[in-house]
Amino acid sequence: MKKQEDSYQWIVEPLVSWYEKSARVLPWRENADPYRVWVSEIMLQQTRVEAVIAYFNRFMEALPTVWDLAKAEESVVLKLWEGLGYYSRARNLKKTAEIVCEEYDGEFPQDYKKLLALPGIGKYTVGSISSIAFGLPRAAVDGNVLRVITRLDENPRDIMDEKFRREMATQLEEVYPEGKCSEFTQSLMELGAMICVPNGSPKCEECPLKDGCKAFQNGTWEKYPVKKEKPKRKKIDKTVFLLHCKEEMAIEKGEDTGLLAGLWKLPNVEQKLKPAEIEGWLSEQGLDQISVAKGKKVKHIFTHIEWHMQCYIVKCKKKNKNFQWVSEADLEERIALPTAYKKCL
Ligand code: ADE
Ligand code: SF4
Repeated sequence: MKKQEDSYQWIVEPLVSWYEKSARVLPWRENADPYRVWVSEIMLQQTRVEAVIAYFNRFMEALPTVWDLAKAEESVVLKLWEGLGYYSRARNLKKTAEIVCEEYDGEFPQDYKKLLALPGIGKYTVGSISSIAFGLPRAAVDGNVLRVITRLDENPRDIMDEKFRREMATQLEEVYPEGKCSEFTQSLMELGAMICVPNGSPKCEECPLKDGCKAFQNGTWEKYPVKKEKPKRKKIDKTVFLLHCKEEMAIEKGEDTGLLAGLWKLPNVEQKLKPAEIEGWLSEQGLDQISVAKGKKVKHIFTHIEWHMQCYIVKCKKKNKNFQWVSEADLEERIALPTAYKKCL
């Protein structure tokens, strides 16, 4: 197949032929039972293939069908998982088995959205189950696959960018070979695991794609994939006051500039105040309190900033003039209070 701009058509035949010749023999490749494919994919998400094999075989011996898993005690499932780590995977596995048995009579749904709705199943897992177990043209794009395809084109896009991942999935799905969807998905995974490896030099001389690979031709594999660090967010401590007087609460208008300029806010100070400082602040505001109680801790994340808020609930004897005092019903329903503060209520 001749190489065309903007299409991965050219990789399909060499990859699938290579896979059929050289794929490792792995227990979950014995057949396309969706239950086996699903359990193996969940195990493989955070654990290496060599470590998964024994766990997978033991799991299948103990719980050979989705019904067995649905009926099993959670403690049994956790015991089978012991040592694999990330135990939420095991809990979600059991929950999903229960749903598949109760709602789908023990058959995994072939519908994209229904699969995605199951606990512990994200886009990647939907792609792998759909292609490997059902033979559907759905891509499973993970770090291994992204490493291979960004090297092929010397693609400088950030692989942590969700939009880029979706675009790659779409481009791959356009060339999925009918009747060989499982092989194509697994050939990309296999190449990423065995040839275009994550640590150290890729084995380009053995790679079925080397004739079309720009990173190989230009010796630039080290530069790909590009993974941009998430920008570090600035952390800001805040002490937030829930000032109650009779049935009303205090709010005030925010600063003229800044993140939430001109919006209402709950009275607050941009630091973590100690008890004595809280007394001091209240008296500065001309507030005479009946009681002060520590309220909840709330974290709110903006793009570049995180607020770590400690709330204090203060019952006041009378209202002061610094603040607007509004009924709690108004605060809930009529006043546009930014979400960060709403969470404190
Ligand atoms: N990693 C994720 N899925 C895999 C599979 N089906 N075979 C080998 N490695 C994998
Ligand atoms: Fe990776 Fe080398 Fe193959 Fe390119 S030729 S895909 S860099 S192993």
